[in-house]
Amino acid sequence: MASAPDMRVLKALGPTISVGVLTADLMALGSELAILERAGVGAVHVDVMDGCFTPVMTVGPPFVKALRTPLIKDVHLMIDEPLRTVREYVAAGADIITVHPEACTHVHRVLQEVASLPHAADPDGRVVRGVALNPGTPLSVLEPLMGDIEIIMLLAVNPGWGGQRFIPSTFGRIEQAKAMIARAAAPVALAVDGGITRENISEVAATGVDLIVTGSAVFDGKDAAANAAFMLDAARRAARG
Ligand code: DX5
Ligand code: ZN
Repeated sequence: MASAPDMRVLKALGPTISVGVLTADLMALGSELAILERAGVGAVHVDVMDGCFTPVMTVGPPFVKALRTPLIKDVHLMIDEPLRTVREYVAAGADIITVHPEACTHVHRVLQEVASLPHAADPDGRVVRGVALNPGTPLSVLEPLMGDIEIIMLLAVNPGWGGQRFIPSTFGRIEQAKAMIARAAAPVALAVDGGITRENISEVAATGVDLIVTGSAVFDGKDAAANAAFMLDAARRAARG
């Protein structure tokens, strides 16, 4: 993206979908990204996993840098101690960086570090800072961080794989997060990540979340363009009520 995204714009536009790119055909990544761009999705979601915080290892900064797209690069760091490498993901062009407090000795320090770094394409801009919570992590963890984040990402699955089932208790957590956001001094967007499919996207979007992360419901090996269009339309209809 040519400039750092403004989460207030996202909240005004909401909801939009951020599509998990690791479920795409990586042998045809350019054309898979073009499908998302043409479909008008908001962002491309990159699940970075280190094989320590999650059982699986995926991609790193070179992959993020290789994604040449105007879409918002929504980089989900499921890695131990992201303080060590977060600067490389910012330099690789991330627009949103989301970290897990469960993986940080000093999560507030990681958010300070991200705030200190210029956006790769916009020296005056900053990367959007997100905190992602596993389904078993209480939302009270967010309280001391609300002044230092622009997005809360609630995982609706346990981290590690796409194609899992949406954990129903996420709906209660969405309501808790909305109440925290309503009390926040500055705008904070709300994202839900994992297990969101054609069957449940309307129910999720109707809760008022701003960003819906979905992977295998779009890149299912069949018609990603039709899937993306369906998911976007369903999300927007449900949000309008
Ligand atoms: C899980 C990831 C999610 C997941 C989404 O560890 O953070 O982004 O891959 O994939 P689906 O939509 O298939 O659940
Ligand atoms: Zn993710």
